[in-house]
Formats: sequence, C-alpha cells, structure tokens
Amino acid sequence: MSVATDFIFDPASYDGVRLPLEEAETLPPWCYTSEVYYRAEVEHMFKRVWNLLGRADRIPNSGDYYTVKFVGVPIIFVRGNDGEVRAYSNSCRHRGTRMVEGEGNCKHFVCPYHGWAYGLDGYLQAAPGMDHTAGFDFSDYGLIPLRLETWGGFLFVNFDNNAEPLLDYLGNLPIEMASYGYEDLVLTNHWEYDVACNWKLHIENAMEDYHVPWVHSTSLDLKDVQFWNVPTEGAWFDMRERHEGTRALLEEDAHHGFPHISTLTGHAAEGTNFVCIAPSTCVASTSDCVWYIELHPQGPGSTKVNVGTLFPKETVARPDFEEKAQYYYKRWRRSVGEDNNISAIQQEGLVSPFVTPGRLSTLEPLVRTLGEWWIDWVIDRGAAATSD
Ligand code: FES
Ligand SMILES: [Fe+2]
Repeated sequence: MSVATDFIFDPASYDGVRLPLEEAETLPPWCYTSEVYYRAEVEHMFKRVWNLLGRADRIPNSGDYYTVKFVGVPIIFVRGNDGEVRAYSNSCRHRGTRMVEGEGNCKHFVCPYHGWAYGLDGYLQAAPGMDHTAGFDFSDYGLIPLRLETWGGFLFVNFDNNAEPLLDYLGNLPIEMASYGYEDLVLTNHWEYDVACNWKLHIENAMEDYHVPWVHSTSLDLKDVQFWNVPTEGAWFDMRERHEGTRALLEEDAHHGFPHISTLTGHAAEGTNFVCIAPSTCVASTSDCVWYIELHPQGPGSTKVNVGTLFPKETVARPDFEEKAQYYYKRWRRSVGEDNNISAIQQEGLVSPFVTPGRLSTLEPLVRTLGEWWIDWVIDRGAAATSD
C-alpha cells in the first residue's frame, strides 16, 4: 500500500461517521471519488455480500437470458431447459471473450471469437479446431457458474462461495415484508440509465426524504406525511411512511390508481416501505405496486441505474392495465430522472479538493447508518481480510 493512500485504510479516518446522528459527519469525500477506495469496496464488500441483480420473471422461458456488468464482472442470467435460473460468468473459457450482451432467447451460447458453444447448463458443447489439443476435455471448460440464490422472485449473486446463505444475510426482511408477496408480483417494465455519480450517492438519496421538497418540488407531494425508521435484523434498512392511497402516482394522476395489493397486512397496509437491501438496492413497496432501483457500480464516478416495476397478477390482468400503468411509469421516470440529475450534480461538487466531510440532519438517519455499514465491510472487515 502506498503511503499516499494510508489514510484511506486508517479506521480513525472514519471516526466522525460513527458518532451518534446528531454529531455524525458524512463519509469522507474520497469514498465517492477515489479509485483506490472503489477497488477496496469491490474486493472487500461487493465480492463478499449478496447482490440483488434482477428478477426471475424477467426470463420466464427456457433459453431466456439477460446480462449485466456488475463491479467489472460480466454475468449471464439464463433459464435452463429444466426451468432453473442460473448465473454464469459471461466470459469464454477459450480466451476470455465476453460471450453475449443485452437480453434474448437462445438454445446455446456461441462465442463470437472462435465459435465455442455452450449449453444453457453451461457445458461446453462444441469447440472447433481443438481436436489436436493434447488432453483437452470438454467437461473442464464449461462456463463458470456463479452462486445464485433467490428470495421473493429477486435474484441474488454472491462471488464468495463461503458466504452465509442468502436468507441468513436478509435476516428478518422476508418476515417483515411477507405480505407484499413479492414472488407473485409481475415485472411489467424495466429500464436503465448511465449516471455520472458514485453508486452510494444514489442509494443515500433513495433512503432519505430530506431532499424531496427541493429535488422533487414539482413532482412529489409530501404534505402531511410521516416518515420513520424501524430497527431491522440483517442486511437491510427500512424507511416507513404512513399515508392513504399510493406513493407511485403523481398527485395530478391519483385518480388513475389501481386497487391495493390484496394480501397486505399490518404496517404494509398502512403506507409505504422504502427498503434498502444493502449494499446498493432500494425496493420501494407501496399499497398497489413495488418498484426497485438496482445500482450497478461501473467505477468510482459511474453507475448504471436499473429500475424495475412490479404489480400483482390480478392488476396486470385488468383490461385497462397498460393504459393506467403509463401514469405509474411517468411518475417513476420523472422522480428517478430528478434523482439521477441531483446525484450527478453532487458528484461534480464532490470531486473538488476543497470538499471536507459534512454534517448530517436528523432528517437523514439512514445516510449515517448506511455509511457505517459500508465502512464496516470496506475498512474494518477489509483490514481483517488483508491481514489474514
Ligand atoms: S475466445 Fe471464445 S472461442 Fe475463442
Ligand atoms: Fe428522490
């Protein structure tokens, strides 16, 4: 480690982050701009935790696949002929070429470079020109499978084969949020944006309402809304809001609302849960639908923002679904666009050498909580892992 970056790995550099909310400081600015800190995040956190990377119902049929590039790792998600969803490293076993991009349906994956072909089960099926290669065994050169587990129809990948099972990681999230019935919801739309910001800026924004009167002054109306946080067990955090109606429509479109999700009980029936599944996903669940925002870090100042929208089956079956859903999509495109914009503007300011850690409002408790969760992994556990 070079002397110039020692302060990044000194736990004392983060003492201000760990103070009680009323006294706490924000994360130091290098956490959002430094390549060195970003590499530590990838190695010590993203490669050890469960990362939410889409939905099983995005690929309902055998051969359906989609791809993502997450912290530098290209990944294929595909449904096999046996109906199982699997994740593979999207790199050819010959000389490493990225196999496929985007999404689609296929019977096998063929590498664009020299034509090696792999089945949906990852097995190498054809490798032209390899007949005289000594000791070459097809069974040794299948696509590399990645550890994949699911909860509520969401797909999670973990790059660490020794990590705890997903359900242990999620703690009491599945119980607390059970009445939304996520596994029965239908993915009706998804879209993505490239945003010139550090991924943490976007999820911090999603987990506080302090910015809403400023950033969403002409879109979201928060009059008479109560927010509060509840204690959680496991890698998730919850900002709850009590209100009538849905939070997924602009006020002017409120009369286009769908019926509520019929299974909701307790707190879920009283308003909205803005949940962060750490480290980097927001799942917002309101009375009639759910939307989620996955952040795929591409570098310290670059993030792919993926948005997905979920509705109950009976809502999707309505004859007026497509017509009314447009009002929901309009609201999300507007609010996410505003959040993308402010996150990029924040990044522009943060790169200045004159930026120092700021102070937090008591209206943004989860910004502090998330900052502490992240540095636990990146700095404290990271230091322990490096000294092993
Ligand atoms: S790199 Fe894929 S077939 Fe050669
Ligand atoms: Fe926002």
